[in-house]
Amino acid sequence: MGKHFSPDNRPRFGISINELNDSQIDAIRRIPAHDAAVPPVIEERRPASIFLDQERYDLEQSRIFRRLPVPLAPSAMIPEAGSVMAHDGYGVPLMITRDREGAVHVFYNTCTHKGAILVEGCKAQKAGRVTCPYHAWTYGLDGRLIGVPRQETLARFDKKDRPLTELPSRESGGLIWAILNSDAPADFGILDDQIASDFDHFGLPGAHLYGHRRFELQANWKLVMEPFLEGYHVQRLHINSIGPAGLDMFADVVSVPDRLGLHLRQTSGRGNYSPEILNDPSVNIRSYVTHAYNLFPNTVFITSPYYMSVMIIMPTGVGTSSVDYYMLTDAAPDNPKAEDLYARSFSVIQDVFGNEDFKAAETCQRGLSTGAIKDVIYCGMEAPIPAFYEGIERMLGAADTPAAAAVSAA
Ligand SMILES: [Fe+2]
Repeated sequence: MGKHFSPDNRPRFGISINELNDSQIDAIRRIPAHDAAVPPVIEERRPASIFLDQERYDLEQSRIFRRLPVPLAPSAMIPEAGSVMAHDGYGVPLMITRDREGAVHVFYNTCTHKGAILVEGCKAQKAGRVTCPYHAWTYGLDGRLIGVPRQETLARFDKKDRPLTELPSRESGGLIWAILNSDAPADFGILDDQIASDFDHFGLPGAHLYGHRRFELQANWKLVMEPFLEGYHVQRLHINSIGPAGLDMFADVVSVPDRLGLHLRQTSGRGNYSPEILNDPSVNIRSYVTHAYNLFPNTVFITSPYYMSVMIIMPTGVGTSSVDYYMLTDAAPDNPKAEDLYARSFSVIQDVFGNEDFKAAETCQRGLSTGAIKDVIYCGMEAPIPAFYEGIERMLGAADTPAAAAVSAA
């Protein structure tokens, strides 16, 4: 389960408040009662061009997506030592391996003979080695070239000189991160220790991957991110699903925001939240409090009572994105009731995200493309959105090392 604390009266499902770290508990204690919550009053706009201009897109690619660490997948996507999978979401053919010792590597998914793609299928498979389908050049999971058929016909050739091209990568807090540029410095300074600790306390590193789905969207990646940074739309866009005319799970309140380096953590009370539940370690805190993280730049982590969601939004063009949605549970379902609960949750969340949040992002892309409005306005109920854009803007303006910029951002 990957949990750190086991009180005698811990909840059967989910997580007790006592299993969280001090910073998480402090954030929960700062949630006001719903009737005492006061949203800030702000004046924030961003030009529509940040979602439409090719030049801006290219700058984001070079300064952020090809320079800083980005999440590739939850560790649970490739949990076993001796496994390999392809990953293509960022428009670059990648291969993720977990070697015999359990260490993760990220390579370009391309044979060093003449560039053929080595592994197809973005699903982990057990493998002791990787063999190119073209001429059967074979590599270890650590990237060493270990086999070349008819090597005696190659003059002055040493296998040591043609390993796979490895990209800098790191596993932290239950996510696999990589820098998608073999020439960029292997600087993981933007990863945050508090985030890693928070995710460890949620049990993300040992979580079970229940489901994964890829969405291809006609929207700029930032428009896809926006609804996951604010609760303003929840009572409105989601009125019939999870809002007041449906499951009615959430209150119309702002979250408690915390900046963790370039990342954002939002802690908010669900509709049924009241401060007294904090005194009861036998309740599943995820049933009363929602934790939503924006991992810089493009990833969302959200807790729900019986599962956790990781969503990685990968830009594929100025007006298009690929989104990988992952549903993670504390453990694999071991009885029909749990299986049924997870299956229903997986279907609801795909419906809510897919048919409501993602659709809204796509309609904004279409609407902004008309040129009818020159800028987008953010109200106090959406205050984390401009905070998110400040981080992006800082990195777009930063010419120096990412770590230095992250420090000045903190
Ligand atoms: Fe939403």
